[in-house]
Amino acid sequence: MDKLDKTRVLTIGSSGLIGSYIDFGLRPHRAELDVLDQVALMAFVRAEKPHTIIHLAGATDTRACEQDPAKAYMRNAVSAYYVALAANAVDAKAVYVSTSRVFNGKKKTSYTEDDMPDPQSIYGHSKYLGESAFRAVAKKYLVARTCWVFGGGPKRDSKFYGSIIRALKQDQRVSAIDDVYGSPTYAKDFIAALMDAIDSGVSGVVHIGNTGIASRYESALLVAQRLKKPELVEKRMYSDTQGYDLLPENESIVSARVSLRTWHEALASYLKDEWSI
Ligand SMILES: NC(=O)c1ccc[n+]([C@@H]2O[C@H](COP(=O)([O-])OP(=O)(O)OC[C@H]3O[C@@H](n4cnc5c(N)ncnc54)[C@H](OP(=O)(O)O)[C@@H]3O)[C@@H](O)[C@H]2O)c1
Repeated sequence: MDKLDKTRVLTIGSSGLIGSYIDFGLRPHRAELDVLDQVALMAFVRAEKPHTIIHLAGATDTRACEQDPAKAYMRNAVSAYYVALAANAVDAKAVYVSTSRVFNGKKKTSYTEDDMPDPQSIYGHSKYLGESAFRAVAKKYLVARTCWVFGGGPKRDSKFYGSIIRALKQDQRVSAIDDVYGSPTYAKDFIAALMDAIDSGVSGVVHIGNTGIASRYESALLVAQRLKKPELVEKRMYSDTQGYDLLPENESIVSARVSLRTWHEALASYLKDEWSI
């Protein structure tokens, strides 16, 4: 197969965490292209004729999804239906970035592509409906599920690692949960593997995550060790809290089709390359 012409890849949601690692192709901002404006989306796609449309424009705040389900379903599910229709109009491949939250979190080992989704939250259910819209409507599609994505560096990482790095640098104590598991995944690795999969013609459902299982505590400890401050990280148990978050116990993923470096290597590389740690 010829190498993919990256100039004809359209990414929707490119200003977000994952999209910020895409430095090629058509990347309209939300003000230029709202994925929920179906007429504008169809016109844009017919004019630009991308061969691949990567749909990243989701509602990603899981708490906000619980509080406003209608918005969650519009942004995660209805948008996928619109993208699938637009892709069909120009015979493009539709790529949906989904989540391990489509599973129920009760499995004792990592979720494979063959496991049955059983979402337990509005976010997970709305993403599963987005996947289902792709499966039902798109003629050519790829659903790429990922988990616990990190990235952004000092300028934009206000999530888990960004927060603990800033706190630890100021010698503040941090605490992290040790009884909830996932696959920490570097956004840069995710995008590289996603593009390889698209390039090789992979279709259907694929899991893309850095290899291995971690708790938030284990990964926070790795950060603290590199900063030579492991004593500042405290372990917390999610089972001891009265949280309303509906966190699944295990959302780690593994793939029969795609293999990435370990999360330890990926996190170490993120800290070194983007934070100089
Ligand atoms: N981050 C993770 O750990 C993770 C894990 C699994 C799956 N995913 C999935 O991966 C995708 C991207 O995640 P992310 O973390 O990069 O999300 P993010 O940082 O919240 O970025 C979402 C992007 O979508 C854009 N967007 C939202 N609504 C839009 C609309 N109506 N029209 C056009 N653009 C719109 C946002 O633009 P504005 O900034 O202008 O609002 C932003 O660029 C999501 O679908 C998410 O469900 C993420």
